[in-house]
Amino acid sequence: MNNKDLIEKAQTSHNLSKEELISILNDESVNDFLFSAADKTREKYVGNAVHLRGLIEFSNICKCSCKYCGIQKDNHLIKRYRLDIEEIISLAREAKLYGYKTVVLQSGEDAFFTKEKMCSIISEIKKMDFAVTLSIGEKTYEEYKAYKDAGADRYLLRIETTDRNLYRAMHPGMSFENRIRCLKDLKTLGYETGTGCLVGLPGQTTESLAEDILFFKEIDADMIGLGPFIPCENTPLERDKGGTLIAALKVMALTRLLLPDINIPATTAMETLNPNGRISALQSGANVVMPNVTDNEHKKLYSIYPGKAGLGNSPEEYKNTITSKIESIGRVVSTGYGFRRREGDSSD
Ligand code: 5AD
Repeated sequence: MNNKDLIEKAQTSHNLSKEELISILNDESVNDFLFSAADKTREKYVGNAVHLRGLIEFSNICKCSCKYCGIQKDNHLIKRYRLDIEEIISLAREAKLYGYKTVVLQSGEDAFFTKEKMCSIISEIKKMDFAVTLSIGEKTYEEYKAYKDAGADRYLLRIETTDRNLYRAMHPGMSFENRIRCLKDLKTLGYETGTGCLVGLPGQTTESLAEDILFFKEIDADMIGLGPFIPCENTPLERDKGGTLIAALKVMALTRLLLPDINIPATTAMETLNPNGRISALQSGANVVMPNVTDNEHKKLYSIYPGKAGLGNSPEEYKNTITSKIESIGRVVSTGYGFRRREGDSSD
């Protein structure tokens, strides 16, 4: 079968083998065909609504040393901050004003936010009738359980890469096995679980990207967030080559074909590489956008990579811009919470 036939097959079977994925990833002549197949699959399974999730970056303090990341602990050249509980709650209140139904709480792995502190933040935000997504890194089963009991609905923890050797090289002092344990715990506890990868890490192969996509299917991820690796100053990878938008879009489009009913964000890293990156993503399989509601002063300091898109806009401007962009491509802003709807499931 040629690659176009394989893509058509995936549109109905939602299956591709590792070799088939590699063959499509290596063929630049089928990119537009692939993006349009992913767009059709997105429309068929999750419709035209785009879910907006208000992102709060509440601390850039991190105990990890991920080599690609600008807020890793060894970067002594950035100013660190952590918001207090009142500030976090007030950003959530702002997210409510923009009409967002979900708040995403994201931070570095900051031990200051103990289980008790996190639980009180979660339960305060739940009182405002939000779906709550956490993106705060590796924790124990007991901590994940406590957050869930406090009302958290979803959790984002990218695997970053399924290539064990590359994972080890990129994450000094961390363990691949523990990351898998975290993802399994999150699933067991009933979170809508999100994972994903970086595309274009130094030494990453097409084969390993194909394995990443198969891993997303194997663990039945509810959300997949991925984007190009963007080299960041003051990190060990600052002089390395980054990933491309096209490569990231291809991995994303193939993910949509294989996991047709999940939620997939058009990520900020995509927009950072190209001013139209988010729209291209929304037309290549994505159905979620995560507007940043962090205030400008702190948003700038949450510098996981340089040139983060949207730094110049106020949250309100961003909400208006993204809404008109969404409408200009014939899509609508969702009015629901945007939980994963499996085929045959009518609840929202
Ligand atoms: N380029 C692109 N994405 C990055 N992330 C961290 N550093 C970078 C970078 N330099 C991503 C990681 C992490 C997410 C929050 O941001 O995949 O999971």
